[in-house]
Amino acid sequence: MALTDFDLVLFGGGGDLSMRKLIPAMYARDRAGDLPATAQIICIGRQNWNDAEFVQALNENARQHINEKVFAQASWDKFCARVRYVSLDATDAATYQPLNDVLRSDTNITRVFYLATPPTLFARICHNLSARGLATEHSRVVLEKPLGRDLASAKEINLEVGQVFKESQIFRIDHYLGKEAVQNLLALRFGNVLFEPLWRREWISDVQITIAEEIGVGNRMGYYETSGALRDMLQNHLLQLLCIVAMEPPLSVSADAVRDEKLKVLRSLKPFTPTTLARNIVRGQYRAGHVEGKAVPAYRQEKNANPESNTETFVAVKAEIDTWRWAGVPFYLRTGKRMADQLAEIVVRFKAIPHSIFTQSNSSFQPNCLVIRLQPDDGLQLNLMAKTPGDGMRLKPVELELDFAETFKAPRMDAYERLLLDVLRGQLTLFMRSDELEAAWEWVEPVLRYWEHEGNEPMPYTSGTWGPAAASALIGRDGLQWREEA
Ligand code: BG6
Repeated sequence: MALTDFDLVLFGGGGDLSMRKLIPAMYARDRAGDLPATAQIICIGRQNWNDAEFVQALNENARQHINEKVFAQASWDKFCARVRYVSLDATDAATYQPLNDVLRSDTNITRVFYLATPPTLFARICHNLSARGLATEHSRVVLEKPLGRDLASAKEINLEVGQVFKESQIFRIDHYLGKEAVQNLLALRFGNVLFEPLWRREWISDVQITIAEEIGVGNRMGYYETSGALRDMLQNHLLQLLCIVAMEPPLSVSADAVRDEKLKVLRSLKPFTPTTLARNIVRGQYRAGHVEGKAVPAYRQEKNANPESNTETFVAVKAEIDTWRWAGVPFYLRTGKRMADQLAEIVVRFKAIPHSIFTQSNSSFQPNCLVIRLQPDDGLQLNLMAKTPGDGMRLKPVELELDFAETFKAPRMDAYERLLLDVLRGQLTLFMRSDELEAAWEWVEPVLRYWEHEGNEPMPYTSGTWGPAAASALIGRDGLQWREEA
């Protein structure tokens, strides 16, 4: 579907996310011919730059994040010509006049405000836009994570932003939902008959969802220190992936049909009790070590770090979903920085065969397992048992592998490219609704409080490993292992 003309306003336009993701994503779509000729990208910042100076900043900071395969100087110059820079103080409505001046008033032009700012500014910016008459009923607002830091602040954001924009105008972004493999999971589950009958407690033993990163906090210490892995990754990305795995078939892929089903999953998560708070969560923080052969410092020794910080850089949780489909099936979620590998995957492990008709014992049969890989590449792997060639009847595990890049030669789209296109088209399916956001915070809230009150120190783990030993023990108690450790 072609895009109609638009003015995209990026608050935090000179910031890290804009330079690393948003500008490169918009450039890639421009290069692919998706952007209308007169569409504008208006970057907001406090620096007193003119358009030419901002383009220089783009050359210095955004250009390096563009895939060389799609870059061409002529199309980059053309793209930069549609970028405008507006200097204002986002907290002060009196400074918004220059934004008024560049925005076009034609209501056929889609107007999007993308708030890539700290969440403490969301309410203020929305009210300022409203006060200046810039937030019209045709405009949309995109809220970047973190969407609050607990249930109360998330509710506050929903309330305040809701005073200016209707729910149908609010796009709460979780870039994991824009990843190709996540959408493929929907295709796999609801475009085939093969898995759905097995996608339940009778046949599935457990589900593991891992997002492991090799990088440390880098230059984001200011943000990360107030966040930690639970707020940064688990409350949003991991829980969203869990929803896509566990939800019932939606009536359609329309926004509310999908979001209704995701919400039911979040509301069915078994609430924590004092026992499960103590037993089912592991909190870790990286110490010095080696990643890809290079020595890396401990979290507490990173630039600008608090040497006594108790912020977690790793978290693992055992979750359960109290529904007929999933009762008793553990969902193990984990994420961490400075881990052994850069990898994001969902592992669905099926139950063991009930009985072996072969001379091999039951225990020599590896249960079937479906791996949905999100990163570093996207693909599917199905582990089966097959007969080894030759005389006799020996079975051994084999892998059916589907590499999406190989199968579909089409170039991959970054998650932000897809999500920005969806915003510009007004398609809300891949964005969180207010009730979903609150349900996710509600589930993690007791963990935050528990850590706060118990002063629960994170367990140390060496950089370049799979996290604290307690994470292996968490799953080991149920007689299982993380896939990489099996
Ligand atoms: C972001 C987190 O939301 O996701 C970062 O704030 C993290 O800490 C990033 O590094 C991971 O995203 P991706 O797409 O690189 O896996």
